[in-house]
Formats: sequence, C-alpha cells, structure tokens
Amino acid sequence: MKRPIIIALDFPTAERALAFLDQFPADLHVTVKIGMELFYAAGPSIVTDVQSRGHAVFLDLKLHDIPNTVESAMRVIGRLGVTYTTVHAAGGHVMLSAAKRGLVAGAMAAGVTAPKLLAITQLTSTNQAILNQDQQIMGTVRASVVHYAKLARASDCDGVICSAQEVQAIHTAVGADFLGITPGIRPASAQSDDQQRVMTPAAAAKAGSNGLVIGRPITQAAEPVQAYRDIMTEWSN
Ligand code: C5P
Repeated sequence: MKRPIIIALDFPTAERALAFLDQFPADLHVTVKIGMELFYAAGPSIVTDVQSRGHAVFLDLKLHDIPNTVESAMRVIGRLGVTYTTVHAAGGHVMLSAAKRGLVAGAMAAGVTAPKLLAITQLTSTNQAILNQDQQIMGTVRASVVHYAKLARASDCDGVICSAQEVQAIHTAVGADFLGITPGIRPASAQSDDQQRVMTPAAAAKAGSNGLVIGRPITQAAEPVQAYRDIMTEWSN
C-alpha cells in the first residue's frame, strides 16, 4: 500500500480549508486530515467538497462512547467514502470491535470501500504524570501505547496513530502490516511549533512509519505545494 503524507487541514472554516486546497494543481491528489474543529464548523459537506476535488480524506473524530453509540456513529462515517477514521483504544475491545462493525456496515450500505480504522493509543500530550496519576495506569507511556496497539489489533483495527518514536516497538509487538501513522513530523529546515518530540520525514521512514500526518510545515508554508513536494521527496527517498 502507498504510504501517504496526510496534510492536517487544521482550518476554522470550510472557506479557508478549500482556499488552501485550491492552490494544489488539479492533477495533484493528496490525502487530508479533517479534524474536529473543521468538521464541527463545516459539517459533513466539507468531506464531499474535498473529495470532489479528487483528494482522499482522513476523518479524525476520535470516537469514544458506549459500544452501541460508537457503532451507530461509525455506520454514518462508513457511508462517507473516507479512507481513514479514528477511535480511542481506551474504549476497550467491545467498543473497538463495534466501531469496525459499524464502519463495514455503513460502507457496504453505501457501496463504498470501508475506511481503515486507526486507534488512538495515548495522546502525545499524555505524559508520565498524567498516565500514572490522572488515568491511574501504572508503568510507562510507551508500555501503555504498545498495550493499546495489541488491543487494537485484536479488535480488528487496521492500525494506530502514534509517535514515530514508538512505531518500531509497535511493529515488533503486533506485526509490520499493522499501520503506524505518525504525526509530530518536521522537515529538518522547519521549526517544531508546539510539537515536543519531532522526527524528520526521512527518520520516520527509516523507523517504519506507514504514513505521515503533517500540518503547519505545509499549511503555513509560503509555498504550500512546493513544501508538500519537498517533504514527499524526503519521505519517498
Ligand atoms: O501542524 P502539525 O504538523 O503539528 O499538525 C499535526 C496534526 O496531527 C494536528 O492535526 C494534530 O492535532 C495531530 N496530532 C498530533 N499528535 C497526535 C495526534 C494527532 O499532532 N498524537
């Protein structure tokens, strides 16, 4: 499978998101991540607007609720024809399996390919203190991430969102065919913004990352299309 660069479309309105995308030539089809801010502001029509320009969508809504509610919501998402979507691994085996069931049922009803289901393990904003004190999970963040990756694999998820620094441990634990999609990526020339532990596209490729999520180094670049092409070169080589 092709390893995508997923552009995080972190804009507050559909107008700004689409104006950004309209800088890309019509024959350059990319994958973009639509998160909560844009989806809640613009509604499901933003997904079709992006798809109608020939781009693939990663719908990042990080579902976490009782299994029945997640299954019903995923049935709706499954109809949208998106390529990836997300769920919190902390919801547990029954909820994760329900998420997958809902996605497959929705996609089948609409006659589209079911999205790949990616589990959120521990958010990169979760540190040791939050893990041990707030969540009352003992051990290290990495151990919890690997545990959640195993749970996600056993629950029919297709992969996880993780730090590029964790992807090797995850592949060792659950198999190299389980997707490790990695944010926190910065080209050597870019600033790190608020990302704490960053990796370059080349280093992430070497670590075994199956796809990059990159926002500001492309969306805030003076020449976004050129920035995208440069990162793609570094990633593919
Ligand atoms: O602009 P930047 O490249 O930092 O954007 C990264 C994107 O990936 C943002 O949409 C951010 O919310 C998302 N993300 C992340 N770290 C995670 C999960 C998602 O940076 N662990």
